[in-house]
This record gives sequence, C-alpha cells and structure tokens, in this order.
Amino acid sequence: MQQVNDSGLVKLSSYIDGQWLEASARFDVINPANGQVVAQVSNAGIEETEAAILAAKKALPAWSKKSANERAVIMRRWFNLMMESQDDLGRILTLEQGKPLAEAKGEIAYGAAFIDWFAEEGKRVYGDTIPGPATDKRIIVIKQPVGVVASITPWNFPNAMIARKAAAALAAGCTFVVRPSPITPLSALAMAELAERAGVPAGVLNVVVGEDAVGMGKVLTQHPDVAKFTFTGSTAVGKILMTQAASTVKKVSMELGGNAPFIVFDDADIDAAVQGALISKYRNAGQTCVCTNRILLQQGIAQEFTDKFASAVAGLKVGDGFTDGTNVGPMITSQAVDGVHKLVEETIAAGAKVIAGGKRSTVGANFYEPTIVIGVTNDMPLASNEIFGPVAPIITFETEEEAIALANDTEYGLAAYFYSRDIGRVWRVGEGLEFGMVGVNEGIISNAAAPFGGVKQSGNGREGSKYGLDDYMEIKYLCMGGLDR
Ligand code: SIN
Repeated sequence: MQQVNDSGLVKLSSYIDGQWLEASARFDVINPANGQVVAQVSNAGIEETEAAILAAKKALPAWSKKSANERAVIMRRWFNLMMESQDDLGRILTLEQGKPLAEAKGEIAYGAAFIDWFAEEGKRVYGDTIPGPATDKRIIVIKQPVGVVASITPWNFPNAMIARKAAAALAAGCTFVVRPSPITPLSALAMAELAERAGVPAGVLNVVVGEDAVGMGKVLTQHPDVAKFTFTGSTAVGKILMTQAASTVKKVSMELGGNAPFIVFDDADIDAAVQGALISKYRNAGQTCVCTNRILLQQGIAQEFTDKFASAVAGLKVGDGFTDGTNVGPMITSQAVDGVHKLVEETIAAGAKVIAGGKRSTVGANFYEPTIVIGVTNDMPLASNEIFGPVAPIITFETEEEAIALANDTEYGLAAYFYSRDIGRVWRVGEGLEFGMVGVNEGIISNAAAPFGGVKQSGNGREGSKYGLDDYMEIKYLCMGGLDR
C-alpha cells in the first residue's frame, strides 16, 4: 500500500483485548475505483466476536471508574493522533471506499471531531436533585454508563460512523465492540491502532472484522453481556437487528435510511440553492443517508434552477479519488451501479426524462454519470426509493402546503433541506417537515455539535451534540428517605 507513509497504520486483522488476532482464512479488500485487491484481511467470525465482547466486559469496571477527565486526556491524544495522520487515514479511506481524497480527508476531520467533542462532553454528565413528595425524602438523579456497547457500522463513512459511536461510548464510560463493514475494514483497524498508541486500555475498544454478517450480527445483538446495540445502515437490516436485540431487551439506537427532499421556493436565492443541492446530492457519489433524494421546485423558479443546476452538474469531474480535481468517485460495487440504473430506467419508463447522465460512466465499471431526471412525480421509483447514487430526480409543485405534503410523503424521516428567504415560511416549513434534521438555506448539516438522527423509519436516538451521550447512559434515581429522623 505505497500511498500510506506510516505503514504501521495498515493493519490486517481484528483488534481484540489489545491484541491483533490473525484468523486462518482471509478476505479481499477491493479498491472500487479499479477493482484491484488493496489488502487481504483476516476473516474473523462468531468466536472472535464473542471474545471481543468478553474483553469489553472485562475492561468495563476499570474504564467506567476513571474520572471523565482521565478519559478525556486519553481521548484527546486519540483525536490528536488522528489529525496528525489525517493524510494517511484519508488515503486508506480512498483506497477502500473510493471517495475523492479531499473528501476522505474531510471525513477524517469530521470523525476526529466527535472524539474531541465527546472527550469534553463527558465532563458535563450532570444529574438532578428533585424536591421529594414528603419532607423526609429527597430525589437524586445520577447518570451511569450503560455497559458494553456493540455496534455495526457501514462502508459509506468507514471512519466517521465509528468515531461518532465509539467516542460517545468511551466518554460515557462504556466499553465498545464494533464490526465495521468488511468492504472497508482498513479505516477501522487504523483507528484502533491510533487508539492503542493514544493509550486506550486493552479491551476498551475492540474491532472485529469478518464477512459473516448474519452470524456476527446475531452475537452482537443477542449476547447477554451487551447492554446496548447501535447500528448505522439500511432500514431493512436495522429492522432485523432491532428484532434480534429485543430478545435481551437491549438499549438500541438506529441511524437508518433516508429520502431527503430538497425544496426550493420561489423566494429562494437560486444560486445558493444550486450550490447546496450540488454538494448535498453528489457528495460521496450520492451514497449518504442524508443525501438529497428528491429535488422539489416551485413552478416560478423551476426552469431557472434546472438550467443552472444542469450547468453546475456538467462541471463535475468523475474519476478515481486519487486524481486531482475529482468531484465524484466510484460507487461502492458494480451491483450498486446496477441498482441505481434500474431506478433510472423504471422512472423513465414511467414518463420522466433524463437531461444529464442517465448511464454508466466510461471511467470504469463502478462509475455512474451524475444524472438529472425531470418530470418526476412522488410515486415514481426514483422518488419513492432511497437512491444511494449520483442521480437527482426533479419534481415541481405549486404551493407551500403541497411542498410540505410531498416532502413528508415517505416512510423515511432523516434529513430534509429547503431554501427560502421568507422568515414566516422558514418557520412554517421548518416545523412542518417530519424529519429529524432540516437544512434551512444549507446543504451540509452534519457536524459534531449537532444532534444527528431521524424519525419514522429512519431510526431512533441521536448521535453527536450534547444529546449524543444520552444513548450511552442510564438514568438512576436515588430516593433518600428518613431525613426527618
Ligand atoms: C450517513 O450517511 O449515514 C451519515 C452521513 C453524515 O454523517 O453526514
């Protein structure tokens, strides 16, 4: 892996109880830009997953008893090391995931920011005192770490989705086991190496990499020693995992799929809206849960927006993430490209029209041209499904009420965006949208200080922000009685 300066960051086996554990079988990690094998990683399974949970259980008493300050010192070292290795970590990420190098380095900073944020936030786990119902009673509320946290994380943000969960868990005093997507295990293992260098004690952070999604998923969701399970991924898989976690009544948080509307009203700053739509739609080749899924345009500005948007999209450069100037990298697999193309074809068959792209790119097997489809209605496949690719369907509407109704007409409720300069409308629409996160005149809403999460079938719980620790803590009430005696 010649692109990486610090070869110590390239780890090829699971990290359990402070040890790098080789397994006899290996699997290939593929560069989605060219199909080449980047590395061969030890294929861990059920046994190793159980060992990781036991290691986390063993490490829990000592880690949870440390003061928040002591944990913060270690976490701050981890944050610093990640930022010092930003270039290498970005390169590893681009190699296995494909996103443009600048975007990959941006993800490293985004992920590291959660470690910095939660290191500090862990110092502010406040309790409460509540007046008692009788003169001889006082009510005290304290918060305690939930225990061992197990998680499964996706390939689209191989660093940040782990950091967002692990940082909150560690700051709360929990210990942590993650099974990263086997499509992108190298970023996760490099994070573990840096955590070890930072002084995170053995067993506090464990990374188990393996291809047995079903077997490892069952252990992580059903093991009696796991107190909380957290997942980022599709709604379909999230439902299965939630059902499994019910068998031991685990605390669960889920960050699932989305179908984000991007609404542009007649009174909007059109140039700003075009830029917002461009970044929100095509970042990570459209493969994020918060990517714009449907562009909703009010009739009065529909033509102007579409023309300007089409001209901006024509300027996007599709290519290998390591090539300078690339804006849109590969999709993760050829099957993913097939899935997106099928949605485009079905939507055209239903009466819509492609005005840009609409086909595989000649750059390589996993590349799809940035696409715009007009004349779409909310019931067409591109609008009713989560696209997860670089395709922008455009829908038009007449009134504000119609826009809100169209936007909410989905089982998902993760992110939504709208552009308007009318303050009354900003409040009405902001409050009317049934989504966990709303970008108002803004296409990028993710950051460590903000509560990330969805409603409806987009999941539950919040990650990041001052609310992000809640999912990793239990509330305990102490009733102090006999105070008159
Ligand atoms: C996701 O796609 O699941 C996360 C996107 C983000 O954090 O911005």
